[in-house]
Amino acid sequence: MTLIIAHRGSAGTHPENTMEAFLEAERVGADGIELDVQLSKDGEVVVIHDESIDRTTNDRGFVQDYTLKEIQSFNASYKFKKPFKQPKIPSLREVFQWMQGNQMICNVELKNGVIPYPQLEEKVIGLIEEFHYEDRVILSSFNHYSIVHCYRINPSIEIAPLYSNGLFMPWVYAESIHAKAIHPNIKVITDHMIVDAQKAGVAVRPYTINAKPLMKRLIKVNCAAIITDYPEKAIGVLNAY
Ligand code: G3P
Ligand code: CA
Repeated sequence: MTLIIAHRGSAGTHPENTMEAFLEAERVGADGIELDVQLSKDGEVVVIHDESIDRTTNDRGFVQDYTLKEIQSFNASYKFKKPFKQPKIPSLREVFQWMQGNQMICNVELKNGVIPYPQLEEKVIGLIEEFHYEDRVILSSFNHYSIVHCYRINPSIEIAPLYSNGLFMPWVYAESIHAKAIHPNIKVITDHMIVDAQKAGVAVRPYTINAKPLMKRLIKVNCAAIITDYPEKAIGVLNAY
């Protein structure tokens, strides 16, 4: 059964990486959420995709130059005409607190490919352990050294390499770094590769799947999960299959 993971929350209809987007993903019945993390000036793990706040808030500057309190004063939904109640950038702790009230899984993407945030892995894993979410969180990153580091810190938490360039037999690579899953850009994986990877015991969760025909195709090959901005659309396709 293909799981539906809401990319940055329900980012197609709600401001990405906000509680509004995560609540919407829960409301429509997604199995999980994907979110991105960076570090604030005071070392808090904050949920935002870019290294800067320019694209998604009403202010400017780098995440690492603001404290959590300052970051949470910015409006993270100002680009949406519809008003939202909680338009701030959440901390990972706040998202984990909300997860105490549901059974959703959470794919935390470590955004440390540009800025080498000190101790990001240790801080994220510390929170996972504090909330006992070892079985509910998947750690992914385009920085594969980072997820290998995560595995060394706590091998009970699943890791998954993200990639957007062609990888020959990606399941062999995954096994070599102790990853039980791969998160490829859909453009660099074929249906055959999905089937072969999953036969080899490596789950495939491609991103970002927003078109219905593609959703249908992936569900047909029993892809482990799809990461989408429109979980409600994917659930509709799954239910009709
Ligand atoms: O985890 C899949 C996807 O989120 C990776 O790309 O740029 O949307 O973080 P991006
Ligand atoms: Ca992401």
